[in-house]
Amino acid sequence: LNYQTARFVISAPKLAQCPADDGVEIAFAGRSNAGKSSAINALTQQKALARTSKTPGRTQLINFFALENDERRRLVDLPGYGYAKVPEAMKKEWQSHLADYLRRRYSLAGLILLMDVRHPLSDFDVQLLELADDRQLPVHILLTKADKLKQGPAKASLQQVKRQLAEWEDLVSVQLFSSLKRQGLDQAYAVMDRWMAS
Ligand code: GTP
Ligand code: MG
Repeated sequence: LNYQTARFVISAPKLAQCPADDGVEIAFAGRSNAGKSSAINALTQQKALARTSKTPGRTQLINFFALENDERRRLVDLPGYGYAKVPEAMKKEWQSHLADYLRRRYSLAGLILLMDVRHPLSDFDVQLLELADDRQLPVHILLTKADKLKQGPAKASLQQVKRQLAEWEDLVSVQLFSSLKRQGLDQAYAVMDRWMAS
C-alpha cells in the first residue's frame, strides 16, 4: 500500500461524528506526547499531515486520513491519554470517547500503540491493551524515540517489554521505532499492510 497518498479527511470529537464505519482503518494511540502524530508523518512521508507539538495534548480530536483514491482505507490519529494538565472531567469524557471508539468501531482492524522507549507500559497503556483484548483487536507497539537511547539500552527495553507482554503474545507485537531517524518503518509497514488487507 502506498502510505504517501495519505490525505486529511475529517476530525471528529466522538464516535457518532466519525465517517461511515466501513472499509478498514488503523488507529494510532498512546500517551500524550508519545509521538503518535510524528509516527503518522514519518510513515506517510509527509512533514505536516498530522499536527505535532512539544506541548502534550496537541491532538484533541479523532483525525482521519485516507489512503489512495478512496476513503476505504484510513489511518486515525487519536488524542493522547494521561495528560496531567487537562481537567479531570475532560479526561473522563475523552476516555469514554476513546473506549467507545475502540469497542465499537467495526472498521478498526488494528491498533498501533506508541510508547516512549524510555517509559513503556504505563497504567494507561495496559488499560488500552485490555480494551483491545476484550474484542481481540491486534496491537502493534512502536517503542518510539529509540534515537534517544544507545543501541544496547534500546534493545534491552524491547526485550523487557516483550517479556512483560508474554501473556498477550497472540495479539500483541512490538518493535523499536524512531520518527526522527526514520527507524523501523519497514517493520511497521509489514504489519499495517497485513491489517489493511484484512
Ligand atoms: P499528542 O497529540 O499531544 O497526544 O502527542 P503525540 O503523541 O501526537 O506526539 P507528537 O507526535 O506531537 O510528538 C511529541 C514530541 O515528541 C514532539 O516534540 C516530537 O518532535 C517528539 N518526537 C516524536 N517522535 C520522536 C522521535 O522518534 N524521536 C525524537 N527524538 N523525538 C520525537
Ligand atoms: Mg498528536
